[in-house]
Amino acid sequence: MGGVVASAPGKLILFGEHFVVKGYRAIATSISLRARVRVEDTSGSWVELHSPTLGVRSRIPLDLSRSAGGELDVYVEILRALRKEGFSIVPHRVVVESEMPVAAGLGSSAATSVAYTLAYTTLLGSPLYGENLLRVSFEGERVAHGRPSGIDTTIAALGGTILYRRGEKPAPVSARIPEGYVFLVADTGLKRSTRDVVDYVLRVAEMMGEAGEQVYAVADKVVEKAVKALESGDMELLGNLMYFNHGLLVAVGASNLALDTIVDIARMRGALGAKLTGAGWGGCAVILARRGDVEVLRGELERHARMVKVINVNVPGATVENILSK
Ligand code: MEV
Repeated sequence: MGGVVASAPGKLILFGEHFVVKGYRAIATSISLRARVRVEDTSGSWVELHSPTLGVRSRIPLDLSRSAGGELDVYVEILRALRKEGFSIVPHRVVVESEMPVAAGLGSSAATSVAYTLAYTTLLGSPLYGENLLRVSFEGERVAHGRPSGIDTTIAALGGTILYRRGEKPAPVSARIPEGYVFLVADTGLKRSTRDVVDYVLRVAEMMGEAGEQVYAVADKVVEKAVKALESGDMELLGNLMYFNHGLLVAVGASNLALDTIVDIARMRGALGAKLTGAGWGGCAVILARRGDVEVLRGELERHARMVKVINVNVPGATVENILSK
């Protein structure tokens, strides 16, 4: 085998981001934007890492004694996790590309971690899938990115739509989005560190004491109702729950002017629902709209967002796309 190309989907958190960090429930769905990783055998004595998307490259020795620096460190952590599981570290070249804007709340980092783990283990002839793929990729993400809840990695590995609680097996949600309704993502173009926003929100919640606890408990109730709305295809209820969830995220300090503007415009122009998605302080908002309203809505939102896209949700998880012969 000369090489492997594997891909994994990005995600939208439909409900419950941030609250999920403290053990409450959240709903995430996979999206039709993917990260793609090509891994090739080389004859050198290095692991060569290149991300054209991020514009960075590095190389590390096979004993993993040095870090790669910055965003590429997650791949070193994945290799360390694989070594612990008995996989050998062979010389190879890694090229990482993502269809998603990075650091924008669509799970680009987790999707590339999962696609890399699948591509490399396939190259070694023992591909990891499902729970095993998830465990190793998450170990890499965990060391590299602080205290993620694991929701991004789970959806990238498994695909579909899930009800997620930290430390528990994710439960599939049979989401029914009736014909004539679509999700859009609008990217503010503002980059931020997930870790910074998560730390800030946790501090706010702690400062608020019991009032903070109650906001978290309400967010959990919203998730419960949203599962029912998704499974019964009640888009009007689902949309209102999205606006409501956005309000709770505003309360804990995860939003900003750019995101609030997008959500307000969506509401004024008749979208059924909108909220920030992912960490907040920039990144993306998700909007639920009637298909017939998309053009007007898009025109209006494009004046305030760097990118507005209609996306498909509930797509398959990580997959090997291509085996390259020598
Ligand atoms: C980031 O996509 C979602 C957060 O809830 C953090 C996490 O779950 O790790 C903000």
